[in-house]
Amino acid sequence: MNLTLECKRSLNRILSRVDLSKLSKNDSKIFHERLTQHFPRLFELLVTVYNERYDMHYQLEQLVQQLADSFKARPAAQKKKDKQRLNNPHWHQSEDMLGMACYVDLIAEDLADLQTKIPYFKDLGITYLHLMPLYKSPEGDSDGGYAVSDYRCVNPKLGTVQELNNLAKALDKAGISLVLDFVFNHTSDEHEWALKARAGDEDFAEYYYLFEDKSIVDEYEKTLREIFPQVRRGSFTYLEDSKKWVWTTFNSFQWDLNYSNPTVFTAIVGEMLFLANLGCDALRLDALAFIWKEMGTTCENQPKAHKLIQAFNACLQIAAPAVVFKSEAIVHPDEVVKYIAPEECQLSYNPLTMALIWNSLATRKTRLITQSLSHRFAINPDCTWVNYARCHDDIGWTFDDGDAGILGINGYDHRLFLNKFFTGQFEGSYATGMGFQFNPENGDCRVCGSLASLAGLEQALEQQDPHLLEMSIGRILLIHSILLSIGGIPLLYAGDELGMLNDYSFLQDDHKKHDSRWVNRPAISNEDVVLAHTPGTVQNRINQGIRHLIKIRKTHPVLGRAKTQVIHTGSDHLFGYQRIHENGDKLLVLCNFSENEQTAHASVFEHLLPASQAYDLINDEIITFDFNLGKTLTAYQVSWLYVKAQ
Ligand code: GLC
Ligand code: GLC
Repeated sequence: MNLTLECKRSLNRILSRVDLSKLSKNDSKIFHERLTQHFPRLFELLVTVYNERYDMHYQLEQLVQQLADSFKARPAAQKKKDKQRLNNPHWHQSEDMLGMACYVDLIAEDLADLQTKIPYFKDLGITYLHLMPLYKSPEGDSDGGYAVSDYRCVNPKLGTVQELNNLAKALDKAGISLVLDFVFNHTSDEHEWALKARAGDEDFAEYYYLFEDKSIVDEYEKTLREIFPQVRRGSFTYLEDSKKWVWTTFNSFQWDLNYSNPTVFTAIVGEMLFLANLGCDALRLDALAFIWKEMGTTCENQPKAHKLIQAFNACLQIAAPAVVFKSEAIVHPDEVVKYIAPEECQLSYNPLTMALIWNSLATRKTRLITQSLSHRFAINPDCTWVNYARCHDDIGWTFDDGDAGILGINGYDHRLFLNKFFTGQFEGSYATGMGFQFNPENGDCRVCGSLASLAGLEQALEQQDPHLLEMSIGRILLIHSILLSIGGIPLLYAGDELGMLNDYSFLQDDHKKHDSRWVNRPAISNEDVVLAHTPGTVQNRINQGIRHLIKIRKTHPVLGRAKTQVIHTGSDHLFGYQRIHENGDKLLVLCNFSENEQTAHASVFEHLLPASQAYDLINDEIITFDFNLGKTLTAYQVSWLYVKAQ
């Protein structure tokens, strides 16, 4: 088929049929322009995915009508932002960017009350706020809100859509971008679509993967990974009432949507644009790796999943271009980067850097992080990593076995060691974490725990040991120093800036006790904040230390949109990289991952030549290079050595 010709015909036919009369003259012009620009891409993508559908053209027409309707509904303030962001596509790379993720009801009473926390966010320097899913979801266990029953309805415990709108406006006024979840791999089993499917409605049955025939389920199971093996074995749930199997990658109440049905794609575009129109700046694409199923594969990271995400992106460019996508692909590093592109996801979690920071903390060695990041950190220069150490989820050890193999490390054995180390089962470990989703078949397991507890603060406080305390504070600040300087948006998990420990109260809650991720989702009270603001407390040292680094980041463009190059430090315990700004500014970062003094080889200074001196940003002093001695760092010390362009 001649794609260009077909595309042109298709667009002409669609334009003659869809109703654009409700758009103002100016909006109609903008819509036409954007459609002309992006429809060819959208057409090609959808033809690739849905080629075999007899009703392809009808589906495209429905989609364009949906885009027009959503654009019509887009508030004027958002349309203004569309324009601004199109003129400033690198806004997410500024040194000013600092993210935080939190659950509305764990940091405030509800959405209205969250507005009273804005001064706190501003004071800390937050410019990006990810609110964990706040949509209507089942009572009791809802996977922390990741089982959505209605995308257009806020969980009544948190407030209303109007209150979310008000909050979005207030955040915008405070210079804070709002990030919302786009949970599009599955809905809850209480979503209207699921209820209809279950009641036997044939159209809605096609919204999900429902099977009467167990042998098909078995055939799929042969190649699938189990995500929640402690919830239920396999990836399907049997529905007693309808005598069918339904695909449930995660919990049994989270039904995977069937994207091989184009009606589902169009319906979800409508939901996505509803969220975009609420006034958010980024959508977090939850579990995006799982959206396409292909028998005989793992049904993760399938080529058509990428096509679909690109198609969603094209829809966004037409109807709400101010919004960017953030990829939540917590998978093998080769696969993580495939989601990152201006036409797919402009932002992405950086699970590899996260896992390798923890790995280096456990081993006190930096060989694996140096080896892996030296060829894996660079991404498309228009896209941005979101660097984090902890989030609301577990930690999976997603490094590449090939990278490890080069260093003589056996990936499988090493993961067993890391799980033992971080759950405190390894002799001499300082970490207090919990296991998550142990799979007895392959020994696989992940780790939960708050940043401070995994870094040793909980143990140090329990043992009231001043040395352990110093070391744990050193680790906590070292972790943050990397998030804030390596390149990308640093994303704090609320409470980490207060040094908050594990919260074991979930063990008393019947709806939570089976899910140890709740151990790292503590509720934050005013007392926690006051403690961290009280001089003399451990929490205050942590808080002050982090704030100091944030302040430096925000005043040096070399910590924003600049290149990152991992370097060899000449020591197995030191991790190093340099940042290079296009204006010529340079920053050399050295981090000591051990409890002992370590020296970087003098050759590290060569990165800063022709200067002979650098400004130590953290200690606020000038240092002169000594090519005889190199650079010595004390336990867990970090150096940010800055040379301004001549
Ligand atoms: C993502 C979320 C996680 C959730 C899962 C299913 O990985 O981060 O919390 O359980 O998706 O929605
Ligand atoms: C995602 C990830 C997995 C993560 C889970 C949430 O599917 O692939 O590693 O732990 O969601 O628990």
